[in-house]
Amino acid sequence: MTVIEFETLDSTNQYARDNFKDLADLTMICARTQTAGRGRLGRVWQSPRDVNIYASMVMKDLESGFHAGCITGLAGITALREFAPQINFFFKWPNDIYVRDRKIAGILCESAGFTNGKIDGVVAGIGLNINFAPKDLRLLDNPATSLYELTNEKFNLKKVINRLAFWFQEYYIAYTKESGSIFELWKQDNRLLGQKLTVITPKGEVITGIFSNISNDGAMLLEVNNATIAFHCGDVKIDRELIDWDNIHL
Ligand code: BTN
Repeated sequence: MTVIEFETLDSTNQYARDNFKDLADLTMICARTQTAGRGRLGRVWQSPRDVNIYASMVMKDLESGFHAGCITGLAGITALREFAPQINFFFKWPNDIYVRDRKIAGILCESAGFTNGKIDGVVAGIGLNINFAPKDLRLLDNPATSLYELTNEKFNLKKVINRLAFWFQEYYIAYTKESGSIFELWKQDNRLLGQKLTVITPKGEVITGIFSNISNDGAMLLEVNNATIAFHCGDVKIDRELIDWDNIHL
């Protein structure tokens, strides 16, 4: 496992993709700040210097981009739990880490190319809100939180990066031995399963239903008027009034 740290990058995902062939499998690229950090669906990822973690994982030995997100998400959620065991972190499909109705981490998986229809590898970027101050969090477009806001404590970023790298390696190795078990672990932490949610598709359609399951290829299954709709992409809206918070152990 190699961790390469930069002072400044446009985007750790971009660097990892541009240099994919020269980087070893199981490399993590970090930057103290990003000048063009990007989120899913073309959004910007705010990346102030020395405040949060911006990291991308190089994965060459896997079957799908969806699995790269599971591994990276599990590494992120496990590291967060080590630093704040009292907080209930969970995954919100497709792969955000949430605390109640606020986002603390996001993941962006990008393919590194295909050869003869088979994926060459994946770059999975993760942004974790660690020391983001509440006043700055309130300036973001969507409800967000940070370890600092949740615990009133500032965290040493290097220590969190070390644990993130450790867990990334652990889950990646576990995956190469038995990929199904990683999917099951990841699915268990999707605590909004069973809840009533609204999905906004990339075309702007708004569909409400019961989040009944996640298919083996990562699609969200929503029950709407006795039919099951599978979503491979989209945004999930949490209506805090509709969620049975007690039942998801928060
Ligand atoms: C999202 O929730 O929209 C995904 C956010 C992913 C942000 C991370 S920060 C490190 C890596 N580099 C990027 O440009 N984006 C990802």
